[in-house]
Amino acid sequence: MSAVVVVGAQWGDEGKGKIVDWLCHRADVVVRFQGGHNAGHTLVVNGKIYKLALLPSGVVQGKLSIIGNGVVVDPWALAEEISKIEQQGVKISPELLVLSDQACLILPFHRDLDAAREAQAGAASIGTTKRGIGPAYEDKVGRRALRVADLADAESMDWKIERLTAHHNALRRGLDLPEIDVTDLKRQLGEIAPRVLPYAKPAWRVLDAQLQESRRVLFEGAQGVLLDVDHGTYPFVTSSNVVAGQAAAGSGVGPRAITYVLGLVKAYTTRVGAGPFPTELNDDIGKRIGEVGREVGTNTGRARRCGWFDAVLVRQSIALCGADGIALTKLDVLDGFDEIKICTGYKLNGEVIDYLPAGVKDQQAVEPIYETLDGWKKTTKGARSSKDLPAKAIKYIRRIEELIGCPAALVSTSPEREDVILMRDPFKA
Ligand code: GDP
Ligand code: IMO
Ligand code: MG
Repeated sequence: MSAVVVVGAQWGDEGKGKIVDWLCHRADVVVRFQGGHNAGHTLVVNGKIYKLALLPSGVVQGKLSIIGNGVVVDPWALAEEISKIEQQGVKISPELLVLSDQACLILPFHRDLDAAREAQAGAASIGTTKRGIGPAYEDKVGRRALRVADLADAESMDWKIERLTAHHNALRRGLDLPEIDVTDLKRQLGEIAPRVLPYAKPAWRVLDAQLQESRRVLFEGAQGVLLDVDHGTYPFVTSSNVVAGQAAAGSGVGPRAITYVLGLVKAYTTRVGAGPFPTELNDDIGKRIGEVGREVGTNTGRARRCGWFDAVLVRQSIALCGADGIALTKLDVLDGFDEIKICTGYKLNGEVIDYLPAGVKDQQAVEPIYETLDGWKKTTKGARSSKDLPAKAIKYIRRIEELIGCPAALVSTSPEREDVILMRDPFKA
């Protein structure tokens, strides 16, 4: 049995989609276990670009794809994404796609609330994707959410909608938003239900059967550990647990089912949205990284903030996930730099520390301590073997491994599916 968890070790957009797609050759099943359509995962196959938000990246290769109970699902966004990906020539059927009947729904008023709160927060806003993710998770833990299974049960839906809209209408009155039109909401739900219900199943049972048959499972994380609601740069985080342990809770398998944790690590750092970012570069170098790396949000189109590699943060993420190896992505973006910096520690109030403190004021105040390495001034783009890498690029990888205490299993050298260097196979570990 082997089950590999792919988890972002920074602030998201590390290239999880590409790596999951590449690892898919070796897997039978791909599972999303948290987040929602705030994710934007890009796959590039022979120049053809697939942008996925809610669908597990395995759909493109026709692998059994499961949206687990830990995901919050906007049924309209799901139906739209299925149509969009089908138009790109990918067949999506209920045999291929399984949607957990326990997953909680994102409804139109969650989006309204997300946007209204962000507008109200002004300068203190989080910079959310405005997809309604936070408000939907609030309703989940508040035990008033609608779940996928409710779409098939009009009777329970009635009293659940009453309770849910009573809560939201109280909030909406305070925000000067019109009250929810319950008749219209029911009509909309009635229309969308037949489009998503064919995929609805007890996903944990499907997954359990797969594991019983020794099928190989790939868990596809969304976001990154620094956006985790417990371990990230709170409150500038998303509303779900992102760490590898969530793969078990968010899909319904025991923790022992996981055989390997792969941390996804970009060769530098990016962040989209507000919040602390110790190695951020507000200069020409940051601009150059952003341009060469095409650091623009996959689905939101927002520019990503860029900075040097921060070994303090990645070491912390690796520890929080118990990562066995990393996939180092976007190495090619650093091609041609004269020198490259790595943050190895922080200075805070005159002291040197080797972790990110919990307080937001301290997180804003830490000053990175840098070590400078020579750039390789050659191309790594498209390299598929470590023999094709310049010695100085290998030195950079080795130094990162040393600083974070975790070996590189994969190195990615372009957006294209096949441009990956395999160093250690996560499915054979
Ligand atoms: P995800 O959210 O972690 O799946 O990452 P995104 O897809 O949001 O962002 C990663 C971006 O980098 C996408 O545009 C990918 O096509 C691209 N990408 C992935 N790996 C590489 C790589 O090794 N080199 C370069 N240049 N681009 C990459
Ligand atoms: P993938 O899976 C990068 C960020 C938002 C914002 C914060 C909260 O593509 O790596 P939310 O809408 O979740 O309430 O926003 O989290 N964020 C991401 N940043 N990649 C993502 O996903 C993200 N999903 C959410 O920008 O700062
Ligand atoms: Mg992304």
